[in-house]
Amino acid sequence: MSVAMKEFKKVTTHSLQQMKDQGEKISMLTAYDFTMAKMVDAAGVDCILVGDSASNVMAGHETTLPITLDQMIYHASSVIKAVDRALVVVDLPFGTYQGNSKEALISAIRVMKESGGHAIKLEGGIEIIEGIERILTAGIPVMGHLGLTPQSIYKFGTYSVRAKEEEEANKLKEDALALQAAGCFGIVLEKVPAPLAKEVADMLSIPVIGIGAGPGVDGQVLVFHDLIGMTHEFHPRFLRRYLNLYEEITGAIGQYVRDVKSVDFPNDNESYPS
Ligand code: KIV
Repeated sequence: MSVAMKEFKKVTTHSLQQMKDQGEKISMLTAYDFTMAKMVDAAGVDCILVGDSASNVMAGHETTLPITLDQMIYHASSVIKAVDRALVVVDLPFGTYQGNSKEALISAIRVMKESGGHAIKLEGGIEIIEGIERILTAGIPVMGHLGLTPQSIYKFGTYSVRAKEEEEANKLKEDALALQAAGCFGIVLEKVPAPLAKEVADMLSIPVIGIGAGPGVDGQVLVFHDLIGMTHEFHPRFLRRYLNLYEEITGAIGQYVRDVKSVDFPNDNESYPS
């Protein structure tokens, strides 16, 4: 499908809504530091997610649960310095919003004030609506996240596809409607059957961004390290790798090691004459 693309100087939550309204798909990608974010923004990604997946790909934790609010703020403040165009959405980490709505508001305010991020994202539906409403009253844009919500991995037990059964699919649809009614500007839908994701995107007026949710949603999000093939042991069905950087980088570094050992590096041109 060919779509007339409007050029946005700076992407806002309103631009994302316009993209959905005009049938233009939204591109979203994670970034966690300045150099990464420079490239992601320069490449024209509409929305950068400072995801709590930093817990996995940056800190090496098995799950997203251990990352702290201070660490998320550190990542987000590095990203924001690099970005000219994209909308920067920052994840509220596990344990910083589920307790009560006041805690949720305080966490969201800290992210906005201390990192300069443009919006926050949190996981869950009706159970956390009070917190979302309270954050929104402070003028902070909120993005929801439904389907496979990795902060609940110990409840799910596996990272497999969610909402395959009717009961969970119905709950997901109710949650999506509740997030929209509360005032969320968009929703991430992770690892759900493609027909269900399309149904949700068609049912909602706000943008639905998918990861492992098929092509029928309003945009796609991936983790930076997965897209460029730095995480070479991770092979989910939904992932398209655009590079194989793990091999490229280990190959280049291996060559450097050999060059150092053989005194090929540095040569005369790489040394300062007297
Ligand atoms: O933290 C993250 O990277 C995410 C994406 C998987 C959507 O939430």
